[in-house]
Amino acid sequence: MTTLAFDVYGTLIDTQGVSVTLEKFLGEKASAFSKAWREKQLEYSFRRGLMQNYENFSVCTRHALDYTCALFNTPLGPAEKNLLLETYQSLPAFEDVKEGLAQAKQAGFRLFAFSNGSFDAVDQLLTKAGIREAFIDVVSVDEIRSFKPNPGAYCHFLRRAGAVGSDAWLISSNPFDVIGALSAGLHAAWVQRSSQALFDPWGIEPTVTVPSLLHLPQEILKHQECADGLHDGP
Ligand code: LAC
Repeated sequence: MTTLAFDVYGTLIDTQGVSVTLEKFLGEKASAFSKAWREKQLEYSFRRGLMQNYENFSVCTRHALDYTCALFNTPLGPAEKNLLLETYQSLPAFEDVKEGLAQAKQAGFRLFAFSNGSFDAVDQLLTKAGIREAFIDVVSVDEIRSFKPNPGAYCHFLRRAGAVGSDAWLISSNPFDVIGALSAGLHAAWVQRSSQALFDPWGIEPTVTVPSLLHLPQEILKHQECADGLHDGP
């Protein structure tokens, strides 16, 4: 059976959803602020992983918010920051997600959420977004105190899901995550959520690329049929 590991932030859950709250404080700079905040949050997780100086993802998010406030010269008070961090815990799912997950389940895939976020944060986020029940379980890198794309994170996922790399796919809109999974021996689907989204030119390509989760099951099945055809041989 094929196992699918869905990345959460940016793939299932729209992190730009925080812009609505940000607009109250930053007006037209909200979108640029939200992007810079997200990039800094990821950078902090990468650095903490490399340094082996682990703090969970919500700490990376909070420190990145403090940094971004300084960068944009926006001295938000503790109440405003708390409101933003609370908003980060109840962001909406992208429009295609509910139906895409239902189709993937229908196609017979085993579905897991797999995130840099802690178990509790992701469990609550998915519950609030109304998609938690689609998943067999939530696997968090917090369980190994490191972050994607550490190969140990993907290995941990396989162990927790009772899967092997050749039967497992990471599904992510984050190129760093797709490349991380491929280099750890999983298949990976890149969800190209906008036509402007770029993939890193490392010569490591996604197994499949889809514009939304609605295209995912058929692309995976197509890939598996081609691979089976090759193995059958004459
Ligand atoms: C996650 C981040 C990487 O959910 O988006 O793991």
